[in-house]
Amino acid sequence: MRIGILGFAPLILCFALLFSSCSSDEAVRLDSPDGRNNIVFILREGKPFYRVIRDTRVVIDTSALGFEIRDGLPIGENLRMEKATMSGEQNRWEPAWGQRNRIREHYGQLQVILKEKTGPGRTVQLEFRAYNDGVAFRYVVPEQEGLAKLEIMKELTEFRFRDDLSAWWIPGDYDNHEFLYRNTPISGIDSANTPLTMESLTDSLCLSLHEAALVNYPEMRLKRSADAPLTLLCDLVPWPDGVKARVEVPFQTPWRTVQLSKTAGELIESSLILNLNEPTKLEDISWIRPMKYIGIWWGMHIGKYTWTAGPKHGATTENAKRHIDFASENNIPGVLVEGWNKGWENWADGVEFPMMEAYDDYNLAEVAGYAKNKGVYLIVHNETGANAEFYETQVDSAFALYERLGVHAIKTGYVGKMRPEGQYHHGQWMVNHQAMIIEKAAKHKIMMDAHETVKATGLERTWPNFMSREWGRGNEYEAWSEGNPPDHTCILPFTRVLAGPFDFTPGITGIYFKDYKPDNRIHTTLAKQLALMVVIYSPLQMAADLIENYEGHPAFRFIREVPVDWDQTKALNGKIGDYVTIARKKNNAWYIGSITDENPRELLVKLDFLDEKVMYEAVVYADGPDADWVSNPLDYVIERRMVKKDDEYVIRLAPGGGQAITVTPVN
Ligand code: NOJ
Ligand code: CA
Repeated sequence: MRIGILGFAPLILCFALLFSSCSSDEAVRLDSPDGRNNIVFILREGKPFYRVIRDTRVVIDTSALGFEIRDGLPIGENLRMEKATMSGEQNRWEPAWGQRNRIREHYGQLQVILKEKTGPGRTVQLEFRAYNDGVAFRYVVPEQEGLAKLEIMKELTEFRFRDDLSAWWIPGDYDNHEFLYRNTPISGIDSANTPLTMESLTDSLCLSLHEAALVNYPEMRLKRSADAPLTLLCDLVPWPDGVKARVEVPFQTPWRTVQLSKTAGELIESSLILNLNEPTKLEDISWIRPMKYIGIWWGMHIGKYTWTAGPKHGATTENAKRHIDFASENNIPGVLVEGWNKGWENWADGVEFPMMEAYDDYNLAEVAGYAKNKGVYLIVHNETGANAEFYETQVDSAFALYERLGVHAIKTGYVGKMRPEGQYHHGQWMVNHQAMIIEKAAKHKIMMDAHETVKATGLERTWPNFMSREWGRGNEYEAWSEGNPPDHTCILPFTRVLAGPFDFTPGITGIYFKDYKPDNRIHTTLAKQLALMVVIYSPLQMAADLIENYEGHPAFRFIREVPVDWDQTKALNGKIGDYVTIARKKNNAWYIGSITDENPRELLVKLDFLDEKVMYEAVVYADGPDADWVSNPLDYVIERRMVKKDDEYVIRLAPGGGQAITVTPVN
């Protein structure tokens, strides 16, 4: 590894000419193992700054660091550099599940210890890491005398971009992430949430701003500075009284992360966010099972069923058993049942959903036992109506009951206005609530799929029972809104999914549901819904359609066969908002998903990732010759062909279309 300029630690340099405009600056540079990504720490007139460089190009210019504190002096002024220590790490680790089965962790680290020269004399540390796929930094406030607690009013972290890059972003709402993406220059952003992905339109630079290991701290939104059009300011989601974070010393912030790459596809191959999280603390993970699932779910969204009891009630014992039978006959390990517990008819702000009381026509114990006998995992729904306060009174007994019944998976939901009153979905209170729930779930051997929760920041490395979350605009919007335009799913892999698994709920073959909602429809071709099973990563992957639509459908074979846990993942091509092709390997077979926006395309891909001297059979689920998402979405074909390593293959995509391929070796 190359460290700093001199390659020694500790290392404090004064190199005014190279990196700073000010001759009294002290600066330390950290390089990634390949030397291409550099992050420079600068102490200027007692204040800390950083700068990010990729291949001699300044990407983020000298940007401020620090905190404003309630009833105290800001942290980040009047500082002296006590020590700067270089270190590094190089290893490989195996996740419990994931997009790859071995992950390389290789970075250089710089730790800077800063102390106030006068006044309270507080100590604060900055930790920087440089990887080949990006850089990161965080604040650490170590244990010290006279400093027990802090109320952070503002984190002063800035991101001062040099160029007005093209940015893909959703608004930085305190409660919601379920938006369509916007594409503007940085100077067109008002506020944004992360991952905020940017690309240069004139040369090869892509980057994504996000955070890793969000623990006991609020989410970071970004707000554009009123004075500097290319500067984004960290803007933490507040408590009701305006405090941003309440912490006890010692504490550390989440990592502020900048994924860096040449192409957009490389962002998809990065493991930066996972690498910045702590290894798991769970010893026994034998009960954790990445799986596909079906459910009594889409039927409610399109109006075939109701969540509430009554003539159209979806969650009846009988209907649940029908779904369990279908799952066990079709190699689908999981079944989600929503609308099984009382309370749906009272849904309003502050609703109290009892998590153990079923409607009269649903016998939870009987359904759970039936599922267990058939080797199917029942996924119990816990909609809280965002009354997280009430949910906390239920959770111990509810999880204990589910464990007794042999249930190993739940799906939570937080639709509505948060309780405690005044809290936001993305504030520190909710981050801590979610952490508490995931820890309790692990204790009861329960996997979690959380909707309307806080953002994904790689915590699944530490808590591998945190399988998936929504936290984004999923397929459900097709059932009851103007829907998702065809380019939405061509943006997600480069933005939302960089953060972690997304319970997007793909796989709807019934593109129209005219019997129930004639005015709504899916905004893709049928083949694209299959391709999304590969493109949008989730180890709990829903095959979201009504089971009667799958029954006897030739394309359902792909859904039955496609895995959800992978040995390798490659982005074969991709242009944000236009198209992407992802190939994933499980054992000896490859599964490819390719999707386009509203434009038809022909994408040439090299099959050079296949093994040498092996013949493979490819089963191709493609858009038919006349397919078009607007006028002919159901036109698809299934074709077989032999392929091998040195082949090139043209993927033909209809407008709003997609293609799903299984590539299996022939003995
Ligand atoms: C919104 C969730 O995203 C969806 O999956 C769920 O069915 C409804 N809330 C009802 O809880
Ligand atoms: Ca939702």
